Amino acid sequence: MIIAIDGPAASGKSTSAKLLAEKLNFLYLDTGAMYRCIALSIIENEIDIKNESSVKKFISNFKLELKTVDGAPDFLVNGSSVSKKIRTAAISKKVSAISAIPAVREYMVGLQRSFAKNNNCVVEGRDIGTVVFPDAEIKFFIIASVKIRAERRKLELQNIGETISLTELQKDIKARDKYDSERSHSPLKKAINAIQVDTTEMTIDEQVNYMIRNVNLKK
Ligand code: DC
Repeated sequence: MIIAIDGPAASGKSTSAKLLAEKLNFLYLDTGAMYRCIALSIIENEIDIKNESSVKKFISNFKLELKTVDGAPDFLVNGSSVSKKIRTAAISKKVSAISAIPAVREYMVGLQRSFAKNNNCVVEGRDIGTVVFPDAEIKFFIIASVKIRAERRKLELQNIGETISLTELQKDIKARDKYDSERSHSPLKKAINAIQVDTTEMTIDEQVNYMIRNVNLKK
């Protein structure tokens, strides 16, 4: 069974996807983290993203693995864990442009399908219900106000020792929404058969319980 969870940045997707996967004992696949991994590596290797052949050459040598360490997913790029390094504000700023490159998306979609193959899986991202798994048994589209999303992001960044103002975060979130939903290749979009969940005024328990109830109806 595939549960597809899409929605804009910091809408509450990851929190609900992680908890849903834990409660159902499904594999949790965070495809945003996968785009962050390739963004980090492209930046570290100073690849010119406007040069298509450099990007393709880079991808042919790029190896991304997903491991479970102490029950939590861990991404390895060419053998090294990058799960902490991909969460910085600097990566958040650049990842949208990198994830819009067609060659990057083609590579990632193939990998996402192979990671989920033969698994019960909760997959979260932007194009999961529309492009990666259009036949997913159940699809959710998670939204929340920009204000609450900026507040949530601020807390997340504080946890990794970064301080950014709410105004700056709101600006970044709006810019990412625009980029992610207006790009020509598989933009962020609600699948027609997705259940929309507005988490602005919901507690985490409320949102997860609501989703579990919907999953149980489908089982
Ligand atoms: O969910 P996140 O903020 O970690 O995602 C990082 C970026 O990756 C986001 O700006 C858009 C991109 N992304 C995507 O294009 N398609 C996905 N399925 C998941 C993420």
